[in-house]
Amino acid sequence: MLKAFPELAKAARRPLPDGAEEIGRLDATSRALLANAWATRARSELDASSAFATMLHGIITLDVEPSVRWLAARAVCDELRHSEICRHMAACYGADVPALAPPRRVEQATAGPVVHAIANCAISETIASAFLSRSLDEAQSALSHAVVRELLEDEVDHSRIGWALLAGMDKGEQRALTAVLPQIVRIVRNLWLDAAEKTGDDLPRGHGCLRGTDLLTVVDDAFRELVIPGLSYAGIDPTSVRRELG
Ligand SMILES: [Fe+2]
Ligand SMILES: [Fe+2]
Repeated sequence: MLKAFPELAKAARRPLPDGAEEIGRLDATSRALLANAWATRARSELDASSAFATMLHGIITLDVEPSVRWLAARAVCDELRHSEICRHMAACYGADVPALAPPRRVEQATAGPVVHAIANCAISETIASAFLSRSLDEAQSALSHAVVRELLEDEVDHSRIGWALLAGMDKGEQRALTAVLPQIVRIVRNLWLDAAEKTGDDLPRGHGCLRGTDLLTVVDDAFRELVIPGLSYAGIDPTSVRRELG
């Protein structure tokens, strides 16, 4: 018999606290806003599993560190778990949580698998880690604190895949990355800007989600304070990233 998929709270590595009392203190509007925010994240975490599956397909046969291969393979499953954990959060805040449709197909980047992995991990997952780190600072409820901590733990590992690959790039790959860097920054930044706009500023603080305005600040700060110095350290000229940030 097929082993059961660990749904909702069962997807967490450690048992999650019961947030019923904290959530019960919120009014209906606040609960609905948070339920929607967590349901949206469940969807994007599921799509992240597809992004990692495409990325893994590109790098698994390359001569990379075993840790890179292992973490990339694990990341496909991590994102499936994250989606379930976020779906559990949406349910805790009162949303209906039917099983999600399969993740969207993600195409391999034309610049090649290593550049694809760097865009996905060193850039996108680093921004995601900064977002979660700030969310953790703000999280006041025990449940959201535990959930955000678990997600953050994995996203930091995912970002490290990209930084490890970046450090091992040859000159040709460095040139290929430099050429598409502005496009990568635009795509990643626009996804977050879109999320910020959809989130808005009415979201109650302290429940593991950031308000739109705070999100914008976190994203651009992460580009400036984490991505740009990291690229420079690896010998990639970050001028075009600065230009994209305006
Ligand atoms: Fe995730
Ligand atoms: Fe991730």
